[in-house]
Amino acid sequence: MCGIVGYYGKENAAPFLLDGLKKLEYRGYDSAGIALLRGGKINLYRCRGRVRELGSARREKGQLGIGHTRWATHGAPSEANAHPHVYGKFAIVHNGIIENQFELKGELLARGDTFSSETDSEVIAHLLAYYYEGDLLAAMQKTAGRLKGSYAVAAMCEEIPDALVCARSKSPLVVGEGNGGVYVASDLSAIAARGVALYALGDGEFALLNGKGVTVYDRDLTVIPKEPLEYDPEAEAPDKRGYRHYMRKEMAEIPAVIGKSCIDFARDPAYEELTRVLGRTQRIHIVACGTAYHSGLCAKFAIESLCRIPVEVCVASEYRYRNPIVPPDTLALAVTQSGETADTLAAAELAKQAGAYLVAVTNVPYSSITRIADTVLFTGAGREIAVAATKSFNAQLELLYCIASALAESKGGQSYFAELHRLIETVAAAEKSCEEVRGWIPYFLGARSVFFLGRGADYAAALEGSLKLKEITYLPSEGYAAGELKHGTLALVDEGTPVVALLTDPALAEKTMNAVHEVYARGANVFLITSLPEYVSRKEVSSAVLLPACRAEFSPVLSVLPLQALAYYLSIARGNNPDKPRNLAKSVTVE
Ligand code: G6P
Repeated sequence: MCGIVGYYGKENAAPFLLDGLKKLEYRGYDSAGIALLRGGKINLYRCRGRVRELGSARREKGQLGIGHTRWATHGAPSEANAHPHVYGKFAIVHNGIIENQFELKGELLARGDTFSSETDSEVIAHLLAYYYEGDLLAAMQKTAGRLKGSYAVAAMCEEIPDALVCARSKSPLVVGEGNGGVYVASDLSAIAARGVALYALGDGEFALLNGKGVTVYDRDLTVIPKEPLEYDPEAEAPDKRGYRHYMRKEMAEIPAVIGKSCIDFARDPAYEELTRVLGRTQRIHIVACGTAYHSGLCAKFAIESLCRIPVEVCVASEYRYRNPIVPPDTLALAVTQSGETADTLAAAELAKQAGAYLVAVTNVPYSSITRIADTVLFTGAGREIAVAATKSFNAQLELLYCIASALAESKGGQSYFAELHRLIETVAAAEKSCEEVRGWIPYFLGARSVFFLGRGADYAAALEGSLKLKEITYLPSEGYAAGELKHGTLALVDEGTPVVALLTDPALAEKTMNAVHEVYARGANVFLITSLPEYVSRKEVSSAVLLPACRAEFSPVLSVLPLQALAYYLSIARGNNPDKPRNLAKSVTVE
């Protein structure tokens, strides 16, 4: 993971580097650093913790610089392990993992090099120093030829006061030119506010950034033309719009986002092609990670119930190494908010190579998944900044339900589009009731653990509720199939344990209530999320959020709203910053 930036131009580099890094903090915020070239010398400013700790470097002079915000993989979060890494005349920033680092390090140590960090990245600076013969681009090409794994790299050299060199393999990188400067960053959000021309670097490509602008090269260092990216500078510029946290702002956007996903789907230019593919689809494999995996689980319930087509949902990191069976007429759905999750990309590629038709469900135009998918469907949730996914999850659900509806139709069944369209208003009504969970917080504050129970689609939503809580409150919690609780986990429930039960399917409600009786009998405090009013005032229930009714298959798009709100308010009550949970990053571009 990690975010990287670079600048050369008529201004001092430090303000752009620091502002750009702040926008990339969703990629990691364990430590940060910038390097500035001044008077032929590289000056380094690094810290443990967030980019704001580097504030005093803002006034430092130097028109050429690179910067980095880190999510630690190799080497603990510390100043010594923070990027940029400097060796000799070279400074580099790196996003990715160098898998053959030990082999390379051994070789470099044998040549007499000494290392000042525990990172895999430092080998890049050493290799540049080794291969440099007056041409930084050529040295970068030779260095890249030695690297195995993933990398987006920006490098500078004390001998060259007016150029940066970049290389990319698997980790994303965007370069730009305009306003008297050249720019590089892990994604366009760091540069977008400048309104300059931006280009996405492809795998195996290099870029030279200097006073003449940006030049992109292929593996053999032949110049290649690039089309500028289309983007809206305002939409890319993050803004809390008066909310205390991005997470709360993004939750408030859910009703609008749902509407957009639904309407965009019907108008999508890929719709016709997709309908043809759905017509011959015999089974679906969904690959995803984290929250996107949970939307896959929710989609499985909807697709299997409405279309009677088997759906396998697999955590991408498992799928990619398990030699999956992919029979003819398999549709693979890669669900990924960022479109950059390394495991999801690898699993999606594997499914495609095995013969599946690959549809990407993503929120980010130009992301890596869009380059490998046969068809791309955009969730249109808009930029999501908070690390814990909220609106992107609801948008994924809506879009996956639209796919379920199109699939049902293509098999001669009914359309559910009108119903999905009506969900827009239902979600808006449900969003208001979420604030009621604030009254639950005192019961959760002193808890040692929390349980989320459900059956069917409620179970999938319970898993997401539990993940959200763990991510931002750091409270241990489990999402559990209500009927499975009695087979062991009930031992963890005692006096005062908060248990959140989801009850949206009339056909399963009494069955889930069996689990509610069981935990209540052991002293649990039961909190209910339901669309069935008859259960609200049951004696076992301490408090309930009543949601509007909707088809059971689509219910997670509603029931997750109070779960997201619960995690958000509890996170604040526990003194955390819900936007930036410890140890996590929004986009995980490493294995
Ligand atoms: C990270 C994030 C999660 C996210 C997962 C998948 O682990 O912390 O919130 O759900 O990646 O991300 P994607 O961008 O592929 O949906």
